[in-house]
Amino acid sequence: MYTPAITGTGVFTPSQIITNAELVKAFNAYADKTNTQNAGAIEAGEMEPLAHSSEEFILKASGIEQRYVMDKTGVLDPDVMHPKLPQRSDDEPSIMAEMALDAAKKALEQAGRSAADVDLVICAASNLERAYPAVAIEIQQLLGCPGFAFDMNVACSSATFGIQAAADMVRSGSVRAALVVNPEICSGHLEWRDRDCHFIFGDVATATLIERKEDATGAHFEILSTRCATQFSNNIRNNNGYLRRSRPDGVKDRRDMQFMQNGRKVFKEVLPMVSKHIADHMADNEIANTNLKRLWLHQANKAMNDFIGKKVLGRTPEDGEQPNILQDYANTSSAGSIIAFSQNSNDLSVGDLGLICSFGAGYSVGSVILRRNA
Ligand code: COA
Repeated sequence: MYTPAITGTGVFTPSQIITNAELVKAFNAYADKTNTQNAGAIEAGEMEPLAHSSEEFILKASGIEQRYVMDKTGVLDPDVMHPKLPQRSDDEPSIMAEMALDAAKKALEQAGRSAADVDLVICAASNLERAYPAVAIEIQQLLGCPGFAFDMNVACSSATFGIQAAADMVRSGSVRAALVVNPEICSGHLEWRDRDCHFIFGDVATATLIERKEDATGAHFEILSTRCATQFSNNIRNNNGYLRRSRPDGVKDRRDMQFMQNGRKVFKEVLPMVSKHIADHMADNEIANTNLKRLWLHQANKAMNDFIGKKVLGRTPEDGEQPNILQDYANTSSAGSIIAFSQNSNDLSVGDLGLICSFGAGYSVGSVILRRNA
């Protein structure tokens, strides 16, 4: 058995930003337009008018100030209200592959490795651009990695579940170095016409390189333990899928073909599940909360993270102990906790312990306990 370690991470950040002010302006224009078009139905009581969104609500309810996206023009056009990402030919790299490639190269560079050293690529994300061939295999080919690659989807927990799969294979010796990439085009599954959730998501890609500890060429984080858990729930759901055209109204513009959530229930049910999961994982590894130097949590909602941080540490986390990046990136699904880790781990000292945790649809929760080495 070998000891797995995270030796490099990388983040691809899209160049386009949508601020809350821009988002609310576009949504309110869409709402006004829709209400004018349906004035008769609204007057007759057959339809509720769409209410305006507000910047104050978004910041207070979520902590989000802006999000990065692959295309803002479509999202902010009241006549479109979704990203416009032109179809690429089959000979061009897919968008997810292109995003992941950038993050993967940064992770390899940080680890002092080349693509030839990697013998497994896992593309773990909430949504996949096509059914097949696997996006991971395309990334493997574009990078020039030997070995094998596969896609996996555990929604917001995809990164930690991917890290567990990769770490287990490194541990057993079936692979020597694995790249887990998380290209998340969340703007594609978000319903920008629904004010209850239109502010939630952003786009990004992250990559994590996992190798044998003894192969590390520089600073790295030993993976002490990983733990994944799932429990079925319909409270975060998206019914889009390959059987769509076989249903009578399947190809219609249906609300359930995008991200849907019962936000309050998610809050109530996921928070205790995640807090207990982390506490049990730490207890089973004999790690007291006084010994944990950092928590890199899933980045969905500031209030959620404040709650979990307080539960896990037994006190209000101090500045920097539980870094949030959601104010800048919004919820980037599986990539969020990896961005937090990537941008807020260099300052830790040798021997320091930290924990990555992601959670979301499924329900699913995954945690990774790390110790800084070298
Ligand atoms: N602008 C202004 N008001 C809004 C609004 C908007 N954009 N969206 C909703 N509101 C209103 C609602 O209509 C409601 O009004 P009411 O009290 O008169 O009925 C009120 O604000 C509260 O809405 P609610 O949906 O209950 O807000 P919330 O406090 O639950 O916050 C979320 C919403 C989405 C931020 C929160 O539920 C959440 O974060 N949930 C889970 C986390 C998550 O994002 N998970 C994603 C997958 S991991």
